[in-house]
Order: sequence, then C-alpha cells, then structure tokens
Amino acid sequence: SVGKSTNIFWQECPVGKLDRQKLLNQKGCVVWITGLSGSGKSTLACTLGRELHSRGKLSYILDGDNLRHGLNKNLGFTPEDRAENIRRVGEVAKLFADAGLICIASLISPYRRDRDSCRALLPDASFIEVFMNMPLELCEARDPKGLYKLARAGKIKGFTGIDDPYEPPLNCEIEIKQENGFCPPPSDMAGEVVTYLEEKGFMQ
Ligand code: PPS
Repeated sequence: SVGKSTNIFWQECPVGKLDRQKLLNQKGCVVWITGLSGSGKSTLACTLGRELHSRGKLSYILDGDNLRHGLNKNLGFTPEDRAENIRRVGEVAKLFADAGLICIASLISPYRRDRDSCRALLPDASFIEVFMNMPLELCEARDPKGLYKLARAGKIKGFTGIDDPYEPPLNCEIEIKQENGFCPPPSDMAGEVVTYLEEKGFMQ
C-alpha cells in the first residue's frame, strides 16, 4: 500500500514549525532509542520524559510495545512487518518533531536500514539515535516480561537476539553501556541525553 496515492497535493498553512518552536522555546527533534528487549529503552524514555517535563520542555514518548496495541496492531515481527512498524513510527515521530516537541521513540528497531530511513526523514541533525548497548546475557537475565524464557523454549519464534537479528548502529549519537560491569543509573542515562540536547540547541 506504500506509494499508491495519486493526485495528491501538499497544503501549506500560515503557522509553521518555527512559530511553534518559538512558542514552546525549544526545537523539535526525535530521540530514537534502539536496543534489545530488556535493555532499558522504556526506562530511559520515561526518565528522560520526566526530566524534560521538570525543565519545562514538552516531549512525547512513542513506545513500540504500546503502539502495537493500536496504530500498529496489524503488524507482527517478520522483517517486513518490523520495517513497516518502524516506517510508521518514523513518520509519526516526524510529525511530533514538526509540532515542535522532543519526540522520544523507543523501539527495538533491529534493522539498520529501517532506522536510517527514519533518520533521513528528519532535517538538520534532528534525529538523535541512542543505542542501549547492553549484553544479551543481561537483558535475558532481567527478562522483565518472561519473553526470553518463552523464546528459549521455542514458544516465541523470531525473537530478537535469540533467533532473530539485531544490527547495532554504526554511527549513533549516543551510546549507553555498562561501566565496570554496572549499568548507569537511569538518571545518568537521561542526563547524558539532556546534555546532548542542550549542547545542540534543542532545549534553547
Ligand atoms: S520492532 O522490532 O522495533 O518492530 O519491535 P517493537 O515495536 O519495539 O516491539 C517490541 C516489543 O514486542 C514484544 N515482542 C517481541 N520483541 C522482539 N521480537 C519478538 N519476536 C517479539 N514478540 C513480542 C516485546 O515485548 C518487545 O518489547 P520491549 O519493550 O522491547 O521489551
């Protein structure tokens, strides 16, 4: 169904992105958090969202698992469905950024090509890729939803990290990893992203 629309026109409106950004005193962007299930994507997204809120910055979280309850409920986990899942969320994230918000997208997004397509949608380095670089063993030991256990037992097929691939980013803006065998506390992870956003002028 992609690329089937014909005879369509782009409508410009008098109030634009710059006007909205001025109103909000921030710059619209997408913080795209990628990583294995159980790597801490949602924890970072929520901590970051709370931190931004406390600083008076408007953000909105697009969580892969949550969106699969509605917008993406007709998609599974084949490579094609994951690609469509990421494409849709990338487009929605772009709309939020255009609205002037700091959009926090939290999805496994295992394929580099799909993430890069989303990056290409966003202008002026406003796509900030954050890689939760946590070892599979750690994610599996955490297993917050019991899904790794089911995948190991063969009850879920095509589970990322077990019998489905995860392609780590080659050039992400921010990498979160263990230090001396310990995960940084969520407030430190969020702090790193906030510092990046400040330095690049998204918080203004
Ligand atoms: S993807 O790959 O980006 O399209 O996935 P996403 O939309 O982020 O959804 C991931 C959540 O779906 C659950 N789940 C699975 N994950 C990976 N592989 C398979 N086969 C699978 N089946 C269900 C799982 O709860 C993921 O949530 P997170 O928050 O990542 O743990």
